[in-house]
Amino acid sequence: VLATIAALAFGYLLGSIPFGLVLTKMAGLGDIRSIGSGNIGATNVLRTGNKKLAALTLALDALKGAVAVLVAGMIDPMAALFAGFGAFLGHLYPAWLGFKGGKGVATYLGILIVVTWKGALVFAIVWLGTAFATRYSSLAALLAAIAVPLALFILGMNAPAILFLLMSLLVFIKHRQNISRLMNGSESKIGAKG
Ligand code: G3P
Repeated sequence: VLATIAALAFGYLLGSIPFGLVLTKMAGLGDIRSIGSGNIGATNVLRTGNKKLAALTLALDALKGAVAVLVAGMIDPMAALFAGFGAFLGHLYPAWLGFKGGKGVATYLGILIVVTWKGALVFAIVWLGTAFATRYSSLAALLAAIAVPLALFILGMNAPAILFLLMSLLVFIKHRQNISRLMNGSESKIGAKG
């Protein structure tokens, strides 16, 4: 129990570093939370027009999830999953930002890459396919979030499947506004400003 709590807390601390917010502030772009969707993630950083900063946000938000899993994995495989979940919760609900964090897609992917490359491959195919076809980052993430737990269950990876199912549910909850914008046709496309 102690190891589980320690893994969750360690993951949370890493995951709650809001790279999108920090990087855009450092670049003098103002508060990312007052731009576009108001989200602190890479898709919204791209709306500032700075592609490099968006790519860096994606990489670092993914990396913090990956590092949490890797480090805790040196102790125990179950601790690795809890640390990943902690990092995901930290990104979504960072204490330092009044618990108002990001939507978790990059961090989800970072965790997935370390837990199972097969799941990451499914994520990449569904995300890229949807993004190329529709230009909607949110829709790509939502479809990937359905495909990943399904694929993990089919592959018989039950413990990770449960973790990613739970994280996918949170991804959906965090995309409520995107879902209503997708339904009424007002969701902005990848790369569109504002
Ligand atoms: O990865 C987040 C993406 O799915 C949606 O971001 O800024 O369009 O709400 P955003």
